Amino acid sequence: MISDTLSKARQYEEEQMPLIPDADRPVFHLTGNTGWINDPNGFSYYGGRYHLFYQYYPYAPVWGPMHWGHAVSDDLIRWERLPAALAPDTEPDRDGCFSGSALALPDGRHLLIYTGVRKGTDRNGEERLRQVQCAAFGDGKEYEKYAGNPVIGEQDIPENGSIWDFRDPKIWRDEDGRFRMAVANRAEDGSGAVRMYESGDALHWTYTGTLDASRNRLGSMWECPDFFRLGSSHVISISAMEMQAEGLEFQPGNNALFIVGDYDPVRKAFIRKSIHAADCGTDFYAAQTMQAPDGRRIMAAWMQNWASSARKPDTMRFFGEITVPRELSLLDGRVMQNPVRELERYRKNAVLYDHIRIGKETVLPGISGRVLDMTVTVRPAESSLFRLFRIRIAKGGEYETCISFDPVQAVIRTDRTRSGYPYDVVNVREFRTDPWDGAIKIRLIMDRHSLELFVLDGRQAASFMIRTPQEADGISFEAEGAAALVDIEKYEICI
Ligand code: FRU
Repeated sequence: MISDTLSKARQYEEEQMPLIPDADRPVFHLTGNTGWINDPNGFSYYGGRYHLFYQYYPYAPVWGPMHWGHAVSDDLIRWERLPAALAPDTEPDRDGCFSGSALALPDGRHLLIYTGVRKGTDRNGEERLRQVQCAAFGDGKEYEKYAGNPVIGEQDIPENGSIWDFRDPKIWRDEDGRFRMAVANRAEDGSGAVRMYESGDALHWTYTGTLDASRNRLGSMWECPDFFRLGSSHVISISAMEMQAEGLEFQPGNNALFIVGDYDPVRKAFIRKSIHAADCGTDFYAAQTMQAPDGRRIMAAWMQNWASSARKPDTMRFFGEITVPRELSLLDGRVMQNPVRELERYRKNAVLYDHIRIGKETVLPGISGRVLDMTVTVRPAESSLFRLFRIRIAKGGEYETCISFDPVQAVIRTDRTRSGYPYDVVNVREFRTDPWDGAIKIRLIMDRHSLELFVLDGRQAASFMIRTPQEADGISFEAEGAAALVDIEKYEICI
C-alpha cells in the first residue's frame, strides 16, 4: 500500500519532470527528479543493477521533510530515474526519512535502513528532531516499511549519546554472515562518535561498541559514517561538522574525511594510522560507498556544501548533484580515488597532444567544451622550472574557472571567482599535491555544471560546482616564468 504522502510526491514528480529540459541537467551526473537533493543513500547492487537513492525534498529546491529519491543504473554512469521510494509517512519517521544505506538480503529482498526523525522538544525548550533507525523492504521499486520500526530506538543509544543526533546507518554483511551497522551519534563530550551494532537478521540489533570518535578534535557532530576494508587497511569515512581549518588539509566548516587504520575484529578495536581529506574542493560531502560485484569499493557523494547551498536562484526546478562514482584503492596509506572505469566507455572524439611547448596563454585546436574527460601532464620544457602552470576552463566573455599549479610549493589553487556565482560563496581553494618530482598529472572531469579534479592518478580529488553559461566553453593553458612541456588527452563524454 502506497501512502498518500508518497503518492502525492510521485504525482508531483510526474507533473514537474517534463518541465525540466534535459539540456538543463548535467549529462552524466545524477540529479533529483525535481526539487532538492542532498546525501546519496542506499548505494547498493541489487537485482542485477546499481541502486542509488538520495535525500530528497520534491516540492522546492530547498531542504524540507526528507523523502528518498531513487535511480538505477547498469554501469554507474547512465542513470534511470525511478519514482520516489520513501516518504515521511509513519510514526517513527513522521518528520523525515534521513540518510541510510541498503543491502541485498540473502532471501532476495532489498533492505533499506534509514534514520526516522520526529520533532520533539529538548531540555532547553528547543524544537529538535529525535532520531531512530528504521527498516524498509522492497523489490527494487516499491518499498514497505517494517511494521516493527524502529529497529534501533533511543533505548539502544549507549553511553549518554544524544537522542537528537543519532543518524545515518551504514549496513553491510560480513563473511561470517552477520550484519553490521555503523551509526553516527553525538557523544557525551558533544562531538561525533561512530557506534557499531550487530545482528543476525538485520532487524534485531545489539550495540557492540564505539568504533572511533572525534573527542572534539575532528569537528563537532559526525555524519554519514562508513567503514570498509581497503587493501591491507580499514577505512572509516565520515563527514565532520564545524571543523577548524588545519593547514591546507582541512577547511573550516564541514569536511569529508578518511581515517585509515587497522581493525582487530576480535577486540573490535580500530587503530588510526592516518587521516586525510576525502576531497579538496568546495563541493563534496556525505560520501557513501558500496562494493560492486567485482569487488571494487565505489564511492559517491553529494557534490555541494551546506554553507553555500542556500545561495541559488528561486527559479531552479532542481538542486543538487551526485559526484561521478569513484573507485577507491589504497596507496602508501592514502585512499586513492578515480572515476569508475565505466566512464571510459563514453569517451568520444579523442584529441591528443604530445610534448607541446606552452609559455604564454595558449588555446589549442580541438581543446574546448564543457562535458569532457581531459588529462593534462606537465613537465618543465627547459632547465629552469616554470613558476606556475595554469589551466583555464569554462572560459568565455567575463567567465573563467582557473586551476593553477605551483611546483615549488606543490600546491594546486582553484579559483571560481568568475564561474558564474553572483554570491559571496567560497570560491578559492588550495591543496597540497605530492612533492614535485618532475611532472604533474591532472585529470579533469567536466559536466555542464561541475568540475572534478583527480591529481596524480587519484592521490587527491577536488570537486566544484560552477554556474557558468554553457557557451563559456573555452580552455587555455599558460606557463609563467619558463615554458612547460604538456601532454593532453581529451575526450568528449557522450551519453
Ligand atoms: C548530511 C545530513 C545527514 C542527514 C541528512 C538530512 O548531509 O545532515 O546527517 O541524515 O543530511 O537530510
